[in-house]
Amino acid sequence: MCAELLTRRAQTVYYGPVMKLTFVPHRRLNALLTLIVCLSAATIAAQTRPVPNPQLASKELNARVEALLKQMTLEEKIGQLVQYSAGFATGPSASNLTYDELAAKGQVGSMLNVVGAEKTNHYQHIAMEKSRLHIPIIFGLDVIHGHRTIFPVPLAIAASWDPEAAEAVARLGAKEARADGIPWVFSPMVDISRDPRWGRIVESNGEDPYLGSALARAWVKGYQQDDLSKVDSVAVSVKHYAAYGAAIAGRDYNATDMSEITLRQVYLPPYQAAVAAGAATVMSSFNSINGVPGSANPFTLTQILRKEWGFDGFVVSDWGAIAELRNHAIGDGPTVARKALEAGVDMDMEGNLYGTVIASQVRSGKIPESVVDDAVRRILRVKFALRLFDHPYVDAGPAYEATPERRAAARKVADETMVLLKNDPVEAVGALLPLTSKAKTVALIGPMADDAQDLLGAWTVTGNMKDVITLKAELQKRLGDRLLFAEGCGLLSGEDGKTLKSVSFTASNAADQSIPVPDDQKTIAQAVEIATRSDVAILALGESTNWMEGEAASRTTLGFTGAQQQLLEAVVATGKPVILVVLAGRPLELKWAAEHVPAILEAWSPGIEAGPAVADVLFGDVNPSGKLPASFPRAVGQEPLYYAQTPTGRPAHGDLSRMPRNAAEKFVSRYMDEENSALFPFGWGLSYTRFSYAQPAIDHSEVPLREVLAGRHPAATVGVDVTNTGGVAGAEVVQLYIRNTSASVEQPVRELKGFARVTLAPGETKHVAFPLGFDELNFYNVDAKRTVEPTTYTIWVGGSSLATAETSLKVVE
Ligand code: NOJ
Repeated sequence: MCAELLTRRAQTVYYGPVMKLTFVPHRRLNALLTLIVCLSAATIAAQTRPVPNPQLASKELNARVEALLKQMTLEEKIGQLVQYSAGFATGPSASNLTYDELAAKGQVGSMLNVVGAEKTNHYQHIAMEKSRLHIPIIFGLDVIHGHRTIFPVPLAIAASWDPEAAEAVARLGAKEARADGIPWVFSPMVDISRDPRWGRIVESNGEDPYLGSALARAWVKGYQQDDLSKVDSVAVSVKHYAAYGAAIAGRDYNATDMSEITLRQVYLPPYQAAVAAGAATVMSSFNSINGVPGSANPFTLTQILRKEWGFDGFVVSDWGAIAELRNHAIGDGPTVARKALEAGVDMDMEGNLYGTVIASQVRSGKIPESVVDDAVRRILRVKFALRLFDHPYVDAGPAYEATPERRAAARKVADETMVLLKNDPVEAVGALLPLTSKAKTVALIGPMADDAQDLLGAWTVTGNMKDVITLKAELQKRLGDRLLFAEGCGLLSGEDGKTLKSVSFTASNAADQSIPVPDDQKTIAQAVEIATRSDVAILALGESTNWMEGEAASRTTLGFTGAQQQLLEAVVATGKPVILVVLAGRPLELKWAAEHVPAILEAWSPGIEAGPAVADVLFGDVNPSGKLPASFPRAVGQEPLYYAQTPTGRPAHGDLSRMPRNAAEKFVSRYMDEENSALFPFGWGLSYTRFSYAQPAIDHSEVPLREVLAGRHPAATVGVDVTNTGGVAGAEVVQLYIRNTSASVEQPVRELKGFARVTLAPGETKHVAFPLGFDELNFYNVDAKRTVEPTTYTIWVGGSSLATAETSLKVVE
């Protein structure tokens, strides 16, 4: 797997002359040429090369597209550019048109939220049999962490640091979706998310571009299998392009604003990785990027996506994003539709604007018909690649069942996502986890313990809470009468309820919109009572996924909602040992818990196998191996908080020797009332065993710049021996970080540039090697071009972003 992680599709152009220089006979000429070539290479070398997608490039496929296009009327062409939500709604104000009629006229290219053989076949029969050119509809759906079999949420999957896990989730999701008539999924979401106030962090791979890119590739591979023509492949839609995760102040749909360098170096890599992996479609975002909305942005959609990356699939807007361009105040309906189309948005999701205002503008000559033709071509190409023309329908299969195989797959992934945040020894007991038989009576307390709906996690459009095995159900099975249970309090208080009642998400699972207002004082007293009768109390606390996670679920606080904190403090006050299991889709503020609770397990929103997976770790059947994909703050005021900070001239814990004496106390970059650092940093996660790292070794401590620029890969390799020094087998995610210590543009204090998951028996040592070359060492210079300059990189290897085992690499002229 390590090899697979490290083998990446070439995305860079290397300039041959650099290599040829060796053969120039005259030494001075050689030196001169070296200088010239290296200088130009430093600015132009290794820029991104468009990578054509072989799935969409075949001559035969394109010939079919052209033949069909020739026969289409303008209305039929525009029909291909529209998508309607003909089932439930996953956004505001779904249109209510007569879809049968539109489909018969060939004026519905795509539909979303129509699921199952019966419903999809209904519309498909109309399109295939009644429309003039028999063009199939492409049905799209939000398949986010499984289709019917619901796995842990994507942020949890990222915590496994295991691309194979992401691939497996996508694979089963694709099979199940396809069997339900869905050949196109609105996944993966690869927005870099550095601010947990933003509820959509739950759908993401977290804060880091390197980890995010590795996972982006894996999701695409799992869905598309490098072959869209397979009956169980689905086309992906990589979203939300671009930089949606950087919404100012963590408020959903808000603008983003950043330098082009940050955009390219931090936010774009995962989208690019997904495109290079063959992504067939991309979803344009709601947010504006430096003043230009993502759904009408020629720079991101045409210049970068198509020209630089060579993307040849199609772009669908996010839900209503084209019509909403009017709210961005960049024009009226016809103007914004034209801007979106010309910028490169091919399909209008539930906006009903392309369908109404494009044709007249083509007729009046305002929009060249060739712009429409190009968009139609891109959409038809994907339809042909998926073989929808040959296999438009789906057979009605047996009703979905969460079979033992599917459960095993969901449990395996969930097991890997658990992050042990803390496991301090308790006096006279030792480490609380794993639970031993010494704990005769166990109290299970908390609103998440038996809440099937919230354990499923956000975005489970077709998931079923009946498939969930809750913590209570599983612990009861394992402990029988030794388990005492109390809910303790609700997830929301009456106050929360008042605010949230009107903004519930409208997915199928959100059937019950009323929030019961619990009598917290009474239920907390019951919880305290059972805690006092037990040997250990497990608190299952978290967030309501239905109300507080995912889209339109931004928060200004990151603590436990409702009376949960009060409940936690009351149970801790009993003096009984407490294990806190956190079930939430975002990093929560756990400062009080970290100070007062000896054992904390981050279990995210684990999906249908929630109970078994949490129990696996609690009882030690599985040794936890997850690592945080996003920093956990001490206080919400630190957000956005991420480990790869850029340096400051007045670091709080830096070298103060060059600064006046009072600097250490006052004039440094810090908060008056809180540490700068994360409570639990990126990459953090404990195990029931211990791992030790030997001094890392590098095979070349100096490498010539020209070789790095010429693409010699690896230019150097860092190797490290990792040993399991504890008493049980375990998996460790070995992480490599670099710091470029001298560059023309200041570089982050640390950046992840390699990772590998290794499993070690007690006493076993494994050697892990990390290759370094242009791909790992480059950065964007002031001209927003990727480059490497002469410098020294400090390199750390270890089990988190706090890694201390160090070596270095010099890149010399
Ligand atoms: C809006 C969301 O932003 C997007 O992620 C989703 O795919 C669409 N709605 C369709 O439901």
